[in-house]
Amino acid sequence: MDVRARVEELRRQVSYYAYRYYVLDDPAIPDAAYDALFSELERLEAEHPDLVTPDSPTRRVGGPPLDRFAKVRHAAPILSLANATSAGEVRDWWKRASKFLPGDAPPPEFVVEPKIDGLTVVLTYEDGTFVLGATRGDGEIGEDITANLRTVQAVPLRIPLLPDDGLAAPRRLVVRGEAFMPNDKFRALNRLLAERGEKTFANPRNAAAGGLRQLDPVASRSRYLSLYCYAIVAQDGGTRTETQWELLAYLRRLGFLTPPDSAHIDSLDAAIAYGEEWMRRRDSLNYEADGVVIKLNHLATAQAMGFVGKDPRSAVAFKFPAREATTRLLRIGINVGRTGTLNPYAELEPVQLGGVTIERATLHNFDDLARKDIREGDVVVVQRAGDVIPYVVGPVLELRLPGAQPYQVPAECPVCHQPVRRNEGEVAVYCVNSACPAQLVRLVEHFVSRGAMDIEGFGTNTGALLVEKGLLKDVADIYYLRPEQLLQLEGFKDKKVGNLMAGIAASKERPLARVLAALGIRGVGSVVAQLLADAFGSIDALMAAREEDLQNVEGIGPEISRSIVEYFSIEGNRQVIEKLRRAGVRLAQERRAAEAQAAPAPLNGKTFVITGTLPTLSREEAKTLIEQHGGKVTDSVSRKTDYLVVGEAAGSKLDKARALGVPTLDEAQLRALLGVPS
Ligand code: IVH
Repeated sequence: MDVRARVEELRRQVSYYAYRYYVLDDPAIPDAAYDALFSELERLEAEHPDLVTPDSPTRRVGGPPLDRFAKVRHAAPILSLANATSAGEVRDWWKRASKFLPGDAPPPEFVVEPKIDGLTVVLTYEDGTFVLGATRGDGEIGEDITANLRTVQAVPLRIPLLPDDGLAAPRRLVVRGEAFMPNDKFRALNRLLAERGEKTFANPRNAAAGGLRQLDPVASRSRYLSLYCYAIVAQDGGTRTETQWELLAYLRRLGFLTPPDSAHIDSLDAAIAYGEEWMRRRDSLNYEADGVVIKLNHLATAQAMGFVGKDPRSAVAFKFPAREATTRLLRIGINVGRTGTLNPYAELEPVQLGGVTIERATLHNFDDLARKDIREGDVVVVQRAGDVIPYVVGPVLELRLPGAQPYQVPAECPVCHQPVRRNEGEVAVYCVNSACPAQLVRLVEHFVSRGAMDIEGFGTNTGALLVEKGLLKDVADIYYLRPEQLLQLEGFKDKKVGNLMAGIAASKERPLARVLAALGIRGVGSVVAQLLADAFGSIDALMAAREEDLQNVEGIGPEISRSIVEYFSIEGNRQVIEKLRRAGVRLAQERRAAEAQAAPAPLNGKTFVITGTLPTLSREEAKTLIEQHGGKVTDSVSRKTDYLVVGEAAGSKLDKARALGVPTLDEAQLRALLGVPS
C-alpha cells in the first residue's frame, strides 16, 4: 500500500477510535492498539510532511502560542434568548409569541433541550474540514480560538466524521454549540491542580473558559472540554432539515454531539412538565445546565416569527433558580468552636441565592482558604446546593482589586487573644485556652443540647448571656445557678426561671453516656460515649484509664484514646467533673435493678439541715449531694431532723440541735457517710 493510502486509512481509523473513546465514552479497541495506530500516523506524517493535512487527528495537539486572539466576524449574528423563570412566564411567552405564527403554520410542537452552562462557540467547516472556531464575542465579532478548539475531542476535524452512505458534507457549514467541562472532568482537573499546589477553579464554567481562552493551545486545558451543538448558523449545500428535532439528528450524523436529555414534545404544557421534571434530575447529570430551552420545532415557522431585539420569538430559556452567585467578600471572620477549632467564615455583601439573601458563608478551613487563595475584598463565587449552608467556592481572579493581600492565619485566638496551636499533619487551628469565653459559649450550647444533657428551658442565647454576665465559668456552673441571679437578667421572669431550674435539676439524672458526650471531649460523640459508658461504667473508672485500656475497647482508636487521656489530664477539666459530682450529676452507669436493691441509697428517707459555711462544699452543693444519695434537706431543725451538718460560724440551729439531741456532722463526716471522698 502506498504511503498516502496508508496515511488516509490511519486517519480514518484513529478518528473513529478517538471518537468512540473520547466523545462517546465507549472505546472500541484497547488503548495500546489505539496508541500504536496513532504513533504510526505520527511517524508517517513526520517522514512525509507534504501529506499532513489540517484535519488529521494528529493536529489536535494544537499550534504554537498566540500573542492574542484574532477577531472574526460571524457568518450571521449569534443571537441570545428571552428568559422565563416560572411555568407562568413560559406560558406568557407563548401567548405573546404565538400571535406571530403564520397562518399556514403546522400545529405547534416543541423541542426541549438542557441549557448548557458553558461558553458559546461557533464552528465553521469548509468542504467538510474544520477551518475556524470562534467565541461568541458580542454576537457579531468573536475571537479566533481554532487552535484551542482543535484539541477538544468533541470537535470533529472533518465531517461527516464517520463514513455515512449518501451523506455529503455541506460546502460550508457554520454550527453553534456550547463548550463546557463535564463535571467528572472538572473534579479530576481540580484534583490534579490541587495536588500540584496550583489554583483550582471555582466551577466547571470558569474552568472551561480558562481552557478555551489560553493563548497556548498546548497548555490549554481543552482536553478536559466537551461540546454540545444545537444550531446551524449558516449552511451551503448538504441536507436541509425542516425541524429542530431533525436538525439535531443531522448534526449527530455529521459527527457532532448534541445536548443529551432532550425531548420532542407536542404541547407546551408537556414541554413545561418535561422542563420541571428535568430540573429535579439536574444533580445527577454530568454537565451543568441552568435551565432548559424550549424551542418551536418547525424551523421555517420559527424563522417566520421573527425577533424581538436579538431574541428569536420562537424559543425561550426556562431558567432554574441559581445555585450560585457572585458577590464581594467583605471580611473573613473567625468562629471559635467548642473544642477550640478556629473556623473561618465569609462576611458577604448581601446577595440573592436560590430565593434567600445570603450574608455569610463558610470557608471550611484555613488550608482550603489558602489553596483557593481567597482574599478580603475579592469578588467570590458562592454556592448553595440543596439545603446546605452556603459556601465560598473561590475568588474570581480577574476581578481582584490591586493591593488585595493574601490571608494570614491568625497567630492568636480572636476572642481570648491566647496563642493558637496547629497540630502537625492536622488541618485545624486551635485555641487551646480552655477558659476562652468563645469556646465556653459553644461548649455550653453543646452541653445543654438535645443529644447531650438535654436541658429544657435553656434557650439558644442563654449560654452566651450567662457567660457574658460571668455566671458561667465552666459548664458545671450551670448546676450552681441560683434563681435570684437569673431573675436579674433581662427577659428572665419567674416562669422562665422556674422552667430553667426544673430543666437543670432534671438533667442531673441523664445516663452516664449523655454526660460523657456533653463534656465535648474531642472525638467523643454519642456513639463513642455509649461505648465508654458500657466499658467503664463510671467516670472515675474512665478517668483512671490509660491509653492502652481505652484502645482495648472495640470501636475506640488511638486518636480518641489520646484525646480522652489528654482531656482528663487537664486540671480544669477534672475540676469540672468534681463540680458536676458535687452538684449531683450522675457520673456512673445506672446500676442494674438487682444491684440497686441490694445496695439501697445510704440516706434513704433521712432528713438533714445544714448550717454555717462548709470548708469545700457550698450550701447548694451539699444539698445536692445529700439528695443524690436519697436524703432530704430542710430548713429548720426539729425532732424529725436526723442530722445537722455543721460548718464554720454556725448559729442558732446548732443550739437547737443540741437541745433536741440531734446528731451533728462536719463535712468530712458527711462525706464519709455518703462514701464521697474529698
Ligand atoms: S438556543 C437563537 N440551545 O444559552 C438560538 N442556547 O441565551 C439561541 N445555550 O448563551 C440559543 N444551551 O449559547 C440554545 N440547548 C441550547 C443551549 C443554549 C446553552 C446558551 C446559548 C446562549 C444562552 C441563551
